[in-house]
Amino acid sequence: MKKIPEHIAIIMDGNGRWAERQNKMRAVGHRQGVEALRSVLEKADELGVGHLTVYAFSTENWARPKAEIKALMMLLLEYIKSESKALHKKNVRITTIGDLTAFDQKIQREIEKAKELTAGNTGLNFNIALNYGARDEIARGINGILEKERRGERGENAKVTEEEISRSLDTWGMPDPDLLIRTSGEMRLSNFLLWQLAYGEMVFTEVLWPDFTGEHLVEAIEIYQNRDRRFGSIE
Ligand code: IPE
Ligand code: IPE
Ligand code: MG
Repeated sequence: MKKIPEHIAIIMDGNGRWAERQNKMRAVGHRQGVEALRSVLEKADELGVGHLTVYAFSTENWARPKAEIKALMMLLLEYIKSESKALHKKNVRITTIGDLTAFDQKIQREIEKAKELTAGNTGLNFNIALNYGARDEIARGINGILEKERRGERGENAKVTEEEISRSLDTWGMPDPDLLIRTSGEMRLSNFLLWQLAYGEMVFTEVLWPDFTGEHLVEAIEIYQNRDRRFGSIE
């Protein structure tokens, strides 16, 4: 068996188109997307992936119609409530990236509960990007550095280093993703992990997220395994 990526990031895209193709409401696509997530998570766990980061809601997704946002929020709440115990049993650790303060108190509490419950787990790190935008993350990170500077917690005239920036981001403590997968045929990052993906391998597939299965994950990993990662060097 070739090397399994330590960190896989996924832009779960295409729920809306999946639903529209069947003349169903977009929310139906989001619900089916949760099912896809379940099977992908299971497969990632089985394969021994260390970290799985999924893009669930972006800072730009607030621009969608209120009804769709509401449906997504309800689905999120339902998912966290129903799934966290089962994930805990599987030794999965739940974490999030993104600014959670924009969400309802109720959602924030449920997310905190799920994180606390699973904090000590040593298996797969299931990392959910919620109200996440890479530019927002970087700006928040820099503000954190400025705050430390004001409190005199950084060395005098200390220069900002790449390491300090990395540590200021929400993904602190996680390795950078080795593999990024985006479904639905779109070939852009949509403000996802801009800093962390500097050397990530990218795999794009036409498959819409609700149709994506554990087997598709394996296929993406196989493509990754056949890539030559040079990191700017030569053979
Ligand atoms: C991804 O599917 C889910 C979220 C962004 C929350 P979309 O809802 O973007 O589906 P398409 O891209 O419109 O098909
Ligand atoms: C990216 O998908 C965000 C998530 C998957 C949560 P979008 O559908 O929002 O991105 P764009 O609009 O195609 O760039
Ligand atoms: Mg989309």
